[in-house]
Amino acid sequence: METVESVLAQDVIEPAMKADRYDGLARLLHWIFAAAILYATAAGYALAQLPDGATREFLSHLNMSIATVLIALFPLRVWWASVRATPRELPGVSDAQRTIAHGVHRLLYLTIFAVLASGYLMVPNGYAFFGLIEIPTPFGPGALTAQLFAFHRASCALLAALVVLHVLAVIKHQWIARNGVLQRML
Ligand code: HEM
Repeated sequence: METVESVLAQDVIEPAMKADRYDGLARLLHWIFAAAILYATAAGYALAQLPDGATREFLSHLNMSIATVLIALFPLRVWWASVRATPRELPGVSDAQRTIAHGVHRLLYLTIFAVLASGYLMVPNGYAFFGLIEIPTPFGPGALTAQLFAFHRASCALLAALVVLHVLAVIKHQWIARNGVLQRML
């Protein structure tokens, strides 16, 4: 049965105790992923246009190395997202909008996983991490790595589309609804 105390605790005290923005680790991981994904997307599509040669080789290894940092950080990001405290709900956002936003965020995590896993698995015979350590990969060149490359391309295109959607939602909330969504991640 709902008492005055339980209603107060649920609707007034608990929301008031919640923070206005995400914690430091969540913000740091968010911006590391954002920067690396934007870079890897631009570099990946640029590489697709470059002819074989030393520049392509260098940029391709740089790209794989930066993406490998994300592979190492991804489990930490998923774990932290599941245990950290969520900040106070944004004002003026309907339940339906909130459900859609959570759905897009989940899909973003899933797509990042697909991009990282396919990127790693499709590289035949390993690669050098920033020229320092040799990272082994499980498959040699063949039909399987070619299929994984096709999957990588498709998941990269989906990730780019989701990132555009995500940024458009931030623009809408920040500059049209003016509810200060960006401050939660700064
Ligand atoms: C943040 C994650 C990543 C993003 C956003 C990303 C993005 C891209 C894009 C847009 C392309 C061009 C696809 C096309 O030609 O249509 C590409 C190609 C490629 N990606 Fe990824 N990728 C990521 C992770 C990885 C990982 C983890 C690896 C391997 C360790 C990898 C290795 C490659 C390779 C080898 C290519 C072919 C071009 C080249 O020779 O470098 N990627 N990537």
